[in-house]
Amino acid sequence: MRLENKVAIVTGAGQTPGETIGNGRATAVLFAREGASVLVADRRADSAQETVDMITAEGGTASAFTMDVTSAEDCQRMVATCVERYGRIDILHNNVGIGAGDKGVTSISEEAWHRIMDVNLTSMLLTCKYVIPVMREQAYGVITNISSVAAWASTGMVAYKTSKAGILALTQNIAMGNARYGIRANVILPGLMNTPMAVEGYANMPGREREEVIASRDAMVPLGKKMGTAWDVAYAALFLASDEARFITGVNLPVDGGQSIRIG
Ligand SMILES: NC(=O)c1ccc[n+]([C@@H]2O[C@H](COP(=O)([O-])OP(=O)(O)OC[C@H]3O[C@@H](n4cnc5c(N)ncnc54)[C@H](O)[C@@H]3O)[C@@H](O)[C@H]2O)c1
Repeated sequence: MRLENKVAIVTGAGQTPGETIGNGRATAVLFAREGASVLVADRRADSAQETVDMITAEGGTASAFTMDVTSAEDCQRMVATCVERYGRIDILHNNVGIGAGDKGVTSISEEAWHRIMDVNLTSMLLTCKYVIPVMREQAYGVITNISSVAAWASTGMVAYKTSKAGILALTQNIAMGNARYGIRANVILPGLMNTPMAVEGYANMPGREREEVIASRDAMVPLGKKMGTAWDVAYAALFLASDEARFITGVNLPVDGGQSIRIG
């Protein structure tokens, strides 16, 4: 019960359909297992409700909230709803991220660029903008933002990388500006994870088989030549959200089986 009596918002806590569990869903389930009440926020009402059903089936406390993280109004409503339902907000876990439509710098459309930047980066500014006043009032709060090792690694995809790198700067700014209020803010950088967003996303492309996608991703991971799972991200998020990490703020934590040490 490492999050006993805590209240958490997890954005993107539904998931892309597929054979495995997504990062946001696994984090919401684990937070609830550890005693938190969880507001399961997602654009897709059915998917958010599936996560809530998983949590309540295990005896946990959760409720769904349908919203778009790119809408300031929705982010404001999300914060108000969480306070209304659970009385406070101890943890904000910003998990939403997309890559669809991303390309290289000379071929990406402006529309795709703005969409990815809005969904991946501006959304985190918005949720933090409205959650932080509540946390300041409580003199307590933990924010965890999900980036990607793509922030550091070389990739042909310009918008995903840039948005994920922006999260590091945004989080440092939030951590420094809010330390005096007892608010911590950290980043998790997942590496190659065996989640539906990553695997089915590629396996659905013409000419690619699911097993081949998995094998080629596994082969790139130094630790055991195997991708991580959403639970690896969730356990790192649990630690950062818990009071065990009370002296940790402003860090960038890769959860990547050693992929990023290849760079350094
Ligand atoms: N899987 C990997 O290999 C990997 C690697 C690095 C980083 N990540 C990061 O992990 C995070 C997500 O992982 P996941 O497994 O939970 O993905 P997922 O696609 O399963 O879940 C994301 C959820 O976000 C929701 N969503 C999308 N746009 C939204 C919006 N505008 N407003 C509200 N909800 C929205 C989707 O409906 C979905 O349920 C992303 O930030 C991603 O960049 C994943």
